[in-house]
Amino acid sequence: MTTEDAATIPTKTINIQRATASRINELDFNNIQFGKIFADHMLVVDYKDGAWQTPEILPYGDMMMSPATSAIHYGQSIFEGMKAYRNPEGEIQLFRPLENFKRLNLSAERMCMPEIPEALFMDGLKELLKLDAAWVPPTEGCALYIRPFMFATDDFIGVRPSDTYRFVIFTCPVGAYYGVPLKVAIEPNYARSVEGGAGFAKAAGNYGSALLPARKMQEKGYHQLIWTDAKEHKYIEESGTMNIMFVIDGKLVTPAVSNTILNGITRASVLQVAKDLGYTVEERKVAVDEIIEASQAGTLQEAFGTGTAATIAQIAIIHYNGTDYTLPAIENREISNKIATALDAIKTGQATDTHNWMVKIEA
Ligand code: COI
Repeated sequence: MTTEDAATIPTKTINIQRATASRINELDFNNIQFGKIFADHMLVVDYKDGAWQTPEILPYGDMMMSPATSAIHYGQSIFEGMKAYRNPEGEIQLFRPLENFKRLNLSAERMCMPEIPEALFMDGLKELLKLDAAWVPPTEGCALYIRPFMFATDDFIGVRPSDTYRFVIFTCPVGAYYGVPLKVAIEPNYARSVEGGAGFAKAAGNYGSALLPARKMQEKGYHQLIWTDAKEHKYIEESGTMNIMFVIDGKLVTPAVSNTILNGITRASVLQVAKDLGYTVEERKVAVDEIIEASQAGTLQEAFGTGTAATIAQIAIIHYNGTDYTLPAIENREISNKIATALDAIKTGQATDTHNWMVKIEA
């Protein structure tokens, strides 16, 4: 069966066990922190004997696992991050969910895990959101963050791909990921990913191995680091858990995606909106020296990270080789501010969705 055939077949019935009481009263919609309170339900589907089993929606809660669960030992664990928004009519809409679905399967392929059928992902997600619709914040700047993930569940400690897996989706209302413009430092030693590695995948291990370098930069007073290429540390790749973009002399410049860089959905959307607004976009290698020289020459006008969690995270200071380079004030950043406003208007249904990015959840 091809992937296309699989996508058109409706998923099996979803067994639903509703939470006996909602916990939504624990949530203060005017003060939502990122990733702390989870909605009432989660979707859980197991893979065994070469097939995905009947999906279940269960009350959000702990999962029992064997200490030998292979994901814990050998890292077959992948995830996605996506968001749902409320439009002015109060309807719920997902931002580009099929892109997350496709990327999850790219990550699955790289980590030697089974493919998830489109119907299983989309039908499960829609059903979950229908049940937990009340958790999508109406508050400006907030959204329902959605975390689909898959991990290996064999209780076996020989090193080989697991025969069994679990796919789960849970959600949590979120506000801003970063509260302030970021101070970031260019990483001269550590690498996030290497040619031929799994840097393009949203694999849990990529995040785990990034924690120590990030912590070391935080101890020096920076929020995050800017990853450089593993061979020479000469070219910029990403910033923290985000893609990175610069405005140099009026042009939007960003590292081209490669097998060492995550193909960000927010990244692609920001570039598309920039083109729609008439800006010049360059996707290419970006040398550290080019950024430092542009800053010294006064042509580095803007720098920001892009990702689902933060959407656009402004960068205030870039540190390199003993010097802090201060960028122009955030309020003067024409391009990223215009893109942020335009993208937000599409997501929240206040602007026409010319690219058909939004997928409505039917009530
Ligand atoms: C995102 O920006 O969506 C990320 O990947 C960060 C996430 C791990 C919280």
